Amino acid sequence: MIEVCNISKSLPGGRKVLDGISFTVKKGEFVGILGASGAGKTLTLRCLNGLLRPDAGSVIVEDQDGSRWDLCNIAKSRLRRLRRRIGIVFQGYHLVQRLTALDNVLLGRLGQMSTLRSLFYGFTDREREEALSALNKLNIGNVAGMRVSRLSGGEMQRVAIARAIFQSPGLLLADEPLSNLDPSNAKIIMKMIRPLADEMPVIGVFHQPEMTAKYCTRVIAIKQGRVIYDGDPRLTNRQLIDIYGEELEQIENAPHPPVEKPTIVAQNPNEHERDFF
Ligand SMILES: Nc1ncnc2c1ncn2[C@@H]1O[C@H](COP(=O)(O)OP(=O)(O)O)[C@@H](O)[C@H]1O
Ligand SMILES: [Mg+2]
Repeated sequence: MIEVCNISKSLPGGRKVLDGISFTVKKGEFVGILGASGAGKTLTLRCLNGLLRPDAGSVIVEDQDGSRWDLCNIAKSRLRRLRRRIGIVFQGYHLVQRLTALDNVLLGRLGQMSTLRSLFYGFTDREREEALSALNKLNIGNVAGMRVSRLSGGEMQRVAIARAIFQSPGLLLADEPLSNLDPSNAKIIMKMIRPLADEMPVIGVFHQPEMTAKYCTRVIAIKQGRVIYDGDPRLTNRQLIDIYGEELEQIENAPHPPVEKPTIVAQNPNEHERDFF
């Protein structure tokens, strides 16, 4: 379970970008966060895995023993340990293009290894088997030995999800996991993410209300840093207009979303996420 209580964040100039956000997500729930561009969705997710510390409020998560911790108010060493159990799928995959799919999945556990072991890249056979089974779970075991640069966008997104699963997370977060995919791949990814909620709370940011209506158990809408809706994933047109305003027309008229090759490359998937302010 994750409990977000009244988190707020202001930019250095004083503009409030998160303004009292609260919600609780339990195991069994697949929550879709919707909102216009700049609404505060990504910043909210960053607070949920402790990458961004809000100015006020709390983000309570449970560890393996069931103890509760406030990510906004704990020592850095404990925060680091708790973050290992939070799987995150970033916008743009964040995969290492020159490595194979299997090696990218293995990187999900880099943060859990001692420096010495990681220096020598010492994954055990058992870990390799587990990484392969994460790829199999997403039906892409057949590309395990292929370099990521040769995979399609849909396959890359599945590698990114497999990497998050391989971390054995207690919470899964995804920021626009469908953003580079065509509609049929987007459906496949949603079908694969949904059952993961049986094992952990799953929270994703999406730009496709028709996808969240079909696959999510609940939708939260954010507007100007505030939660303006939290409930049934099937939204009415009136509600969509409230959430998106003028942007709604673009979403409805959008042809197939652009399929882009990602350019971001990082050794450690969490490395280039920094607290900017
Ligand atoms: N590093 C940053 N520095 C300054 N402003 C930022 C930064 N990150 C986000 N913002 C601002 O905060 C608001 C919310 O951003 P974000 O959560 O990324 O929006 P979105 O809902 O599109 O994910 C936006 O107005 C954005 O411009
Ligand atoms: Mg965003």
